[in-house]
Amino acid sequence: MEIRYAAPGRINLIGEHTDYNDGYALPIALPQRTTVTYTPDDRDALTVRSDREDGVVTVALHTAPGEITGWAAYVAGVVWALRAAGHPVHGGTMTITSEVEMGSGVASSAALECAVLGALTEATGVRMGPVDLARIAQRAENDYVGAPTGLMDQLASLCGEPGHALLIDFRELTVRPVAFDPDAAGIALLLINSRAPHRHAGGEYAERRRSCERAAAELGVASLRDVQDGGVAVLDRVSDPVAARRARHILTDNNRVLEVVAALKDRDFATVGRLWTASQASMRDDFEITTEHIDLIADTAVEAGALGARMTGGGFGGCVIALVNAARADAVADAVRMAVRTAGHPEPAFIRTRAGAGAQRLG
Ligand code: GLA
Repeated sequence: MEIRYAAPGRINLIGEHTDYNDGYALPIALPQRTTVTYTPDDRDALTVRSDREDGVVTVALHTAPGEITGWAAYVAGVVWALRAAGHPVHGGTMTITSEVEMGSGVASSAALECAVLGALTEATGVRMGPVDLARIAQRAENDYVGAPTGLMDQLASLCGEPGHALLIDFRELTVRPVAFDPDAAGIALLLINSRAPHRHAGGEYAERRRSCERAAAELGVASLRDVQDGGVAVLDRVSDPVAARRARHILTDNNRVLEVVAALKDRDFATVGRLWTASQASMRDDFEITTEHIDLIADTAVEAGALGARMTGGGFGGCVIALVNAARADAVADAVRMAVRTAGHPEPAFIRTRAGAGAQRLG
C-alpha cells in the first residue's frame, strides 16, 4: 500500500504573533504544497528521504527529543508527538517532495509536519479533527524541534480552502472560512519573497512571546485576549515600556483582523490594504519584528501604488504581501526590484498568488 498526502504552506493576511496570545489571525493556505509518499511496513523505524536534502535519515519509532536534528526533526517530532498522544505509528519508507520554499516565512515546517501527520494517520486509520491534528504538529515543533510557535501555521495548512481566508479564533479554537478572492475584483495578491534568511528568528520569537506573557501577568490575566475589549488604555498599567508596546501590537492587530474580515464582506480591498499597511507599521514600531530590508519592500510597494503591504509570518526576513490593482502589479514589482537593488539587497522573487486547498490525501 502506498499513501500520498499533501499539505500546503501558508501566508497570513493579518494578525501576527496573535496566535499564542489567544487572539485572532486570518491566514490562507498557499497553492504550493509538500507531498509525502509513504509505504508503511512492520519495521520499528521510518526511512526518510527528501528531494531538498542529500542522504537518508532513519527515524526510530521510539525516537525522543534531541535525537534527530535538522529537517528530519520535523518528521521525527511528528512520530514522537503522535505516540506521546497515545496513537499507533507504523514504520516504513517516506519520500518527501516540496514546492514550499524553506525559511522564507511561508510555513514550510507546518507543511512538512501536516503532510507527515496525514500520511501516518491514514496508514493506521486514526481519525482526528483539525484542532487535535494541529496540536500534535505543534507539539512536534515546540517540544521536539524546540521552536515555541503557536497554532496558526498548522491550522492554516490543515483547513485551507480555495477562494477563502480562515478567520481563526485561538481562544475558542474555531476556524471560519471568509471569502477572499481579490482576483475576481481585478486585484492581485503579490507575494514578495525578500530572499533574506531569517535572522535570529528562534531567539527573537521566544523573546517576543515572553514580553507578551510579562504584560499579561502584570495585568493579572492569563492572556492578552482577556483585556482585548478594554482597548489599549489598559496598557498604561504595564510598567515595562517594551512589554507595553509589544502588547499594543497584539491588541491592535487583533482589531485589524476583525476589521479586515468586515471589509472583505464588502470586497473593500482599499480598506483591507490600509489595514495591512497599518499592521506593517505596528510590526515595525511596536513589535519590532521587521527589518530595514522588509520595510523598504513594503514602503516601496505602497509608494508605487499598492493598496497596502505588510510582512507576513514570524518576522526578521521572509516575505511581504501586497494588494495591488492588477494593472499596476508589474509597475509595483519593478519599483520594488529597483529599490532593493539600489540598497544592495538580493533580488526578490514575486509570485501572484491566491488561497489554495488544505491538507489532503492524493492517493
Ligand atoms: C510563526 C509561528 C506562528 C505565528 C507566526 C506569527 O509562523 O509558527 O505560530 O506565531 O510566526 O504570527
